[in-house]
Amino acid sequence: MTKLTIDTETNILTVDDGGAIEVLDLYSKGAFDAISRQWVRVGWTLKYPYTFSWMGRPVIQLPEDMIRMQEVVFAIKPDVIIETGVAHGGSLIYYSSLCKAMEKGRIIGVDIEIRSHNRAAIEAHPLNDRITLIKGSSTAPEIVSQVKSLIKPGEVVLVILDSNHSYAHVYSELEAYSDLVTTGSYIVATDGIMHDLEDTPRGVPGWSTDNPTFAARDFVKTHPEFVIEQPAWPFNESTLEQNITHWPGAWLKKA
Ligand SMILES: C[S@@+](CC[C@H](N)C(=O)[O-])C[C@H]1O[C@@H](n2cnc3c(N)ncnc32)[C@H](O)[C@@H]1O
Repeated sequence: MTKLTIDTETNILTVDDGGAIEVLDLYSKGAFDAISRQWVRVGWTLKYPYTFSWMGRPVIQLPEDMIRMQEVVFAIKPDVIIETGVAHGGSLIYYSSLCKAMEKGRIIGVDIEIRSHNRAAIEAHPLNDRITLIKGSSTAPEIVSQVKSLIKPGEVVLVILDSNHSYAHVYSELEAYSDLVTTGSYIVATDGIMHDLEDTPRGVPGWSTDNPTFAARDFVKTHPEFVIEQPAWPFNESTLEQNITHWPGAWLKKA
């Protein structure tokens, strides 16, 4: 149980973490981290990420995660972005818009259930020309083979895992797709924020261990070719260093 007390008269934030008291300058980096953590938890509860769209399609992400992904896509300039978990297709359209702006790259989206109205809207979208949709479970061997058959030797590949967020599924996805990731690129195990949401109103018992962050953490123990590393911010005139994110510990970089 954490208690935050914000005193705007003295400009002090007091963090009481189960009896361990920390007194912080309200306008400090530590205070920003503590407040942001609670902001993410409250926002997730209120479905804040379910309020955004990209060029007409709903995209279920925290905007900061999208901007950070854009920084990585622009730096890496992938030939192929593979995303498991399509939903309404907003993230695929987002990646397609980045690829179109860079005049490079295509997107493969995999989902176990692509509803007909979502498929129709994605296929009718002006940015659909760079997108291939594959319907099936992301860990089914025939789906993994189908994805792999679409990658040409030497292509720069970025993989984003945003489907079923259980530990077991994400671990299997990491095993299935990590060999496609090229040196300097990433496989991103999104939505590990679950580990900090178990005690929130919409949280689920078990999430503190059953989550993508732990799958990624354990995966790298036996795959030393990957390191968990938040991508460096290309622009930073602040003293801040940490993403405000739904994807803690998500970025597995192929070294
Ligand atoms: C969080 S949503 C994806 C959100 C989307 N990437 C976006 O940014 O808007 C998760 C999606 O994963 C899909 N999914 C669940 N289990 C799956 C599996 N085993 N294989 C592939 N997709 C799966 C669901 O059908 C759902 O559409």
